[in-house]
Amino acid sequence: MKPLLFNLDSDPFLANQLRHHLDADSGLLNTRQFPDQETYLRIDSNCQNRDCVIFCNLYQPNSKILPLIFLADTLRELGAARVVLITPYLCYMRQDIRFQPGECVNAYPFGKLLSQHVDFLVTMDPHLHRIHALDEVYQIPTAVVPAAPLIAFWVVCSIVEPLFIGPDSESEQWVSEVARLAEAPYVIMEKVRHGDRDVDIHLPDMTQWQGYTPVLVDDIISSGKTMQNTLKALQNVGLSRGYCIGVHGLFADNAYAELKQLADVVTTRTVPHASNQIEIAESLAKAVTEWLRTP
Ligand code: R5P
Repeated sequence: MKPLLFNLDSDPFLANQLRHHLDADSGLLNTRQFPDQETYLRIDSNCQNRDCVIFCNLYQPNSKILPLIFLADTLRELGAARVVLITPYLCYMRQDIRFQPGECVNAYPFGKLLSQHVDFLVTMDPHLHRIHALDEVYQIPTAVVPAAPLIAFWVVCSIVEPLFIGPDSESEQWVSEVARLAEAPYVIMEKVRHGDRDVDIHLPDMTQWQGYTPVLVDDIISSGKTMQNTLKALQNVGLSRGYCIGVHGLFADNAYAELKQLADVVTTRTVPHASNQIEIAESLAKAVTEWLRTP
């Protein structure tokens, strides 16, 4: 039997692509806010013994979590065979260590919470830095779909003589793989973060890279300061205007407008945005289908 795909208030365009690639039926859902702002939710599809896939994209997550839990638990209660969550962006992965005494290390309680409500989770390139794998924080099976092959393909089709740039050591895991797949060189910068919007970028000697098109790659663009300051530093040493590619374009405040003045900005479709140029649905759906095929 085909799986049922429920779109919980997420990008309808991506939901349709996912439904197509999953060969799923649309799950019918009725949700609204009660006058007191509590959530009403009703499932109008028969989910008895069917695999149910929830597409709930957890950027700006706080208002999405409770409806997600209500939906997942109701699906189970109504007899769903397995409940899968697709969240192209996985939130609460960056607070992965206690930087200051008393801080909540969000990744752990959040992973524990979701693990209690769904059977399998699929996401694209979560921020794995001091946490090395999702099974350190999730107690359910998970699949991490890499953006590198999709980004490399886009670059090979769109840019001549790319020089991949990673703005900090954390980005090397993505940048080195994209560069390998695109058969192009890469350089990693050094970043010192002083605050949410305050970062310093230090460049190695870039003399040998004059004439290349700089292509910055990072997993998350949030305030955009990491990308902006890297672009400014590169332009100060004579490199041309280039590209700025983010897996997840969150773009807080004016980040997108500011970045566009310095580079062409491209993101994958994990967070719906005008900069989306790299499609992800087929890869995400493949990970779900492979897991659903396991007995
Ligand atoms: C770092 O930890 C991440 O990989 C990104 O470099 C970071 O999230 C970018 O943040 P922002 O756009 O606020 O500089």
